[in-house]
Order: sequence, then structure tokens, then C-alpha cells
Amino acid sequence: MEYTKLGYTDLRVSKLCLGGMSFGKAKWMADPEASKKIIKKAIDFGINFIDTANLYSSGDSEKIIGEAISGYRNELVISTKGGGKINDFTQGFSRTVLLNEIRNSLKNLRTDYIDIYFLHTIFDSVDFRDTARTLSNFISSGKAGYVGLSNFTGYQVAEFYTVMDMQENIRPAIVQNHYNAVYREDERDVIPFCEKHGIAYSPFSPIAAGFLSGKYKKGSENETTRTKTYPVMKERYFSDADFDVLDSIEEIAKNRGINVSQLALAYVLNKGFIPVIGATKPEYIEDDMAALDIKLSKEEMELIEKRYIPHRIVKGTAGY
Ligand SMILES: NC(=O)c1ccc[n+]([C@@H]2O[C@H](COP(=O)([O-])OP(=O)(O)OC[C@H]3O[C@@H](n4cnc5c(N)ncnc54)[C@H](OP(=O)(O)O)[C@@H]3O)[C@@H](O)[C@H]2O)c1
Repeated sequence: MEYTKLGYTDLRVSKLCLGGMSFGKAKWMADPEASKKIIKKAIDFGINFIDTANLYSSGDSEKIIGEAISGYRNELVISTKGGGKINDFTQGFSRTVLLNEIRNSLKNLRTDYIDIYFLHTIFDSVDFRDTARTLSNFISSGKAGYVGLSNFTGYQVAEFYTVMDMQENIRPAIVQNHYNAVYREDERDVIPFCEKHGIAYSPFSPIAAGFLSGKYKKGSENETTRTKTYPVMKERYFSDADFDVLDSIEEIAKNRGINVSQLALAYVLNKGFIPVIGATKPEYIEDDMAALDIKLSKEEMELIEKRYIPHRIVKGTAGY
């Protein structure tokens, strides 16, 4: 496994981050026993960066990970997320909500610290000053090591960064946003901002939730358990332009004699980002590991990128 320094922090993380959204009881997910096998396999391969959220399977993902990592905790970098719209009167980034959520996450994960605590879901009318102060307290009390932002647009990253830096003298360390070969909207402003300020960029859904795995074909029904039970998938992908990009990825994968999913993951790795991978089967981890060795040529990168057309911003479960 290759490791890298996470942005400006002193964390040393594997170049792949294992995502925890697919651990739970929903039909498209790995059940708790299979999830533990996936986590064990990832750790055996040297993956030391594991991501989850309190929202995933209503806390079950955190609980599964907490059980699976006991004995390895100090060797790992664990991120989880809090925040979200509770109702029309309570916003999820308020002090009371975040304090309650981090306490539950620590309990679920069976740990007394979280390496990276992400704000998960942004929406209008958040008072960033209060949120920045709360997160600063998490860091000074040792509950969290660093702060991450997820599903933030460029101006929101810049605004939060500025408030946090000027008020608390702390900067966000990482952004986890939606990015893959068929959704590259962060190239406009989020990624340049991160690069300028030493913030790590760690995209989720590098295989487009499986759309870029080769199992979906244009013109056929394309239904899988995940498309049927994970509604944002059909909203995010499956346009004609997405299939054009998929054609290019399939062509390169065929020429190289490798899996389509490996090529899609390699695309994100070749951009220098730290992808958050989703695995529903242990064998996917082996495929994903092989992607680390794929160095794409300039011509191959251009072939993947040239058929991309700008997308409207997709509003996901996380609000942006
Ligand atoms: N911050 C946020 O709001 C947010 C949102 C989404 C995700 N995330 C994070 O990102 C992680 C990954 O998200 P994701 O599941 O959408 O990522 P992904 O890696 O793009 O997609 C994973 C899916 O791709 C397919 N796949 C993966 N490896 C494969 C392989 N080797 N061969 C064939 N198919 C393969 C599987 O589909 P099948 O199961 O259908 O076979 C799998 O469920 C999550 O677990 C979570 O930690 C964060």
C-alpha cells in the first residue's frame, strides 16, 4: 500500500479510503458480517483510512466499524460526520446538535477520538461562527483531530474556511465531495481552492456508485438492487453524456485488459486525489488495490475527459 500526507495535516493515510456507507442492513449493502470481512480485508491490505457518518444506516455503519477495528484503532485514521437538517427549526450544525452527535459517534465507534470530524450536510441559514467555535472546542478537548467539510460548494468552503481561520485560528483539513469521471463540477472552484490552501481533496463515489463498473449498458434496463433502492443513483448518472464517458473508459480498460471499475478508480487516483471507495463485497477491495498501480497516459486521460460536458449541480442526500 502507498501512503500519503493528508493535505497540510500530520496524518499519514493510505491512498484509498474505505467508505462505510455500504455497511448496514439495506438491500444494496453488505450485511454486518460481510461488512466486517470487507473491513478486515482492507486493513490487511494496508488501508488505514476509514470513513463513515452517523447518518449511515442510522448509526449501524459506525457500530459495525467500531466492532471491526477494535484492536487496530490507533493504527487507523477514522473519519465520521455529523450535522444535517433536523427539521425546519433545528439546523444540524448547531452546538447542541453537534455535541450530541459527536458523543453518539464516539460511543458507536468505541473510541475516545475521531481523527477527522466532517460537517456532512449544508443548507441555508447556518451560522458558521457558532459551528466553527463548536468544532474548535472538539479539537481543543481532543474529541476530534481535524475538521472536514462534505458536500460544500466552492463559496461555502471559502466562507467556512475564512470564518474558522479568522475566528478560531484553525483551518479545515479536507473536503469530501462528489467527484468522478462523470461528475467533475468541483474542478471549477472547490479543487483549486483546496490546492491553493493545502486542503486534501477526497472524492466520494469514484466509481459513480457502480455506474462506472461496466455493469450498466446504454439502452438496457440497467436495474440493480442499488439503482432500485438508492434513489439518488438514477438522478446522478445515466445521461447520454455519462454513457459517452463510460464508452471511453471501457475502451481503455479493454485495451489494457483490466476491469472497467479499476480504470474508473485509476482515473481519480491519477488526478492525485484520495478516493473514498464503496465496497459491498470483499473481492472488490482486491480490484480497487490493483487500481493503485495503473498509471494513465496523457492521451488516456484526455480520451476520458474530452467527452465530458458540464452537469447541473446534483442535489444529493446531503443537500448539495
Ligand atoms: N459525503 C457524502 O455525502 C457521501 C455520499 C456518498 C458516499 N460517500 C462516501 O463514499 C463512499 C463510497 O461511495 P459509493 O459507494 O458511492 O462509491 P463507489 O466506489 O463509486 O461505488 C461503489 C459501488 O460500485 C460497485 N463496485 C465497487 N467496486 C467494484 C468492483 N471492483 N467491481 C464491480 N463493481 C464495483 C459496487 O456496486 P454493487 O454493490 O452494485 O456491485 C459498489 O457498491 C461511501 O461508503 C461513503 O463513505 C459520502
